[in-house]
Amino acid sequence: MQRTLVIFKPDCVHRRLVGQILSRFEAKGLAVVGLKLIQVDRALAEKHYAEHAGKPFFEGLIGFITSAPVVVGVLEGNEAITVVRTLLGATNGVAAAPGTIRGDYSSSKQNNLVHGSDSPESAEREIAMWFKAGEVASFTPAGSEWVI
Ligand code: PPS
Repeated sequence: MQRTLVIFKPDCVHRRLVGQILSRFEAKGLAVVGLKLIQVDRALAEKHYAEHAGKPFFEGLIGFITSAPVVVGVLEGNEAITVVRTLLGATNGVAAAPGTIRGDYSSSKQNNLVHGSDSPESAEREIAMWFKAGEVASFTPAGSEWVI
């Protein structure tokens, strides 16, 4: 079992797509073990996107992610990191394949609806950054054996 961080970005919340997209993750077999709606402050945004500091899109990205509330979650399941990123599709919605979440709902590199951790190291770092210990369930959801 693996855990990954997902951020339903401001465009996703504004467009009322959180439930639909979360359903796709659940239908694939992932379980929600943490979930909350928060207004991101600049410090957290800069920490989360630290690897992109200095890139031309950095300021826009920080402005975007702090512009309105996000829903942030921890999903658990078999190969959760890869499963989430495969369902999301390519970063740029224009290039994302039809059938993927971004391929179906996004035409943008910034407004691409959902962030998913890209490695086990990132997932561990990001979950610790966005959630306090008591906010992530410490149970393994029953029924996990039916989706592997
Ligand atoms: S990179 O450096 O171009 O390879 O970055 P990439 O891995 O493709 O994307 C990392 C995150 O930055 C966002 N991004 C952008 N936002 C706005 N404008 C532009 N041009 C842009 N390029 C990348 C992208 O949505 C990724 O966000 P996350 O939350 O990690 O999915």
